[in-house]
Amino acid sequence: MKILKTVTGLRKQLTASSLSPLGFVPTMGALHAGHLSLVEKAINDCPSVVVSIYVNPSQFNDPEDLKKYPRTPEEDLALLSGLMRKSDLVFMPRDKEIYPEKDTRVFDFGNLDKVMEGVHRPGHFNGVAQVVSRLFDIVEPNIAYFGQKDFQQLTIIKELVRQKGYKIKIIACPIVRENDGLAMSSRNRLLDPLIRKNAGIIYKSLLSASQMIKTHDIPEIKKFVSENIESFNGFKVEYFEIVDDKNLLPVMSAGEMKSGKGYVGCIAVKAGRIRLIDNIEFPLP
Ligand code: PAJ
Repeated sequence: MKILKTVTGLRKQLTASSLSPLGFVPTMGALHAGHLSLVEKAINDCPSVVVSIYVNPSQFNDPEDLKKYPRTPEEDLALLSGLMRKSDLVFMPRDKEIYPEKDTRVFDFGNLDKVMEGVHRPGHFNGVAQVVSRLFDIVEPNIAYFGQKDFQQLTIIKELVRQKGYKIKIIACPIVRENDGLAMSSRNRLLDPLIRKNAGIIYKSLLSASQMIKTHDIPEIKKFVSENIESFNGFKVEYFEIVDDKNLLPVMSAGEMKSGKGYVGCIAVKAGRIRLIDNIEFPLP
């Protein structure tokens, strides 16, 4: 694999090789098996793959979170070199490559960025849309890979592609989990050991909730999820919503759930000082 730090360098490589389809996996680094599953899928599907590693300041609504976000470039490159082929590229730009000038674009995603993460992280998805559209313009991939772990982000990226008329196929990849069910995340390495030990309760509660929908209504399920997770010291549920998987509108009662539609239970939990998100598909009641 080749490592490129500039837009000019990357464009030159892409023009020289011009293999198709070109696959793209955008990341913020501190790579784990979840990221690598996206890279593996891209390598399987595409003769040429670009992985970007860029911690995008414009999507961090909290400056402290940006400061403490893990950065492990050497480990990331070692992991990628175990998977990537000669013709594959890693793009590791500096801020001025991505934002030669301040990006002032404001996106309108309707309801999609007004719920859940949108409420708790104002401006976050606008920053995600800025960086992803900028990266799409630079890389010009045919296929881009995103994890279902960030379900709301995935939905917004699909809407971004629709709005801007990008000819890019978006592939959704399943959530990769630790043995105890905790969804892999770059932020997991920041968890206190005791908090980490109990963090499997988040997925366990989601699993139970998705079964409870057959016999309980949504307010009871929400109460169960909060109480179950908050029974552990240091855990606080920020939100748990069951939403329509297309428009992300929250469902208030099991009776509103219609066959032919899909539903996802999305959660954000403050685990000590670290914020974790996860989600699970919900069956019909
Ligand atoms: P990051 O959190 O590094 O994630 C990069 C990609 O990996 C995202 O598509 C994310 O959903 C996926 N991913 C993370 N953990 C996963 C897991 N446990 N299983 C499966 N996929 C997982 O998401 C971002 O970066 C940024 O917002 C980005 C899109 C790169 C824009 O800056």
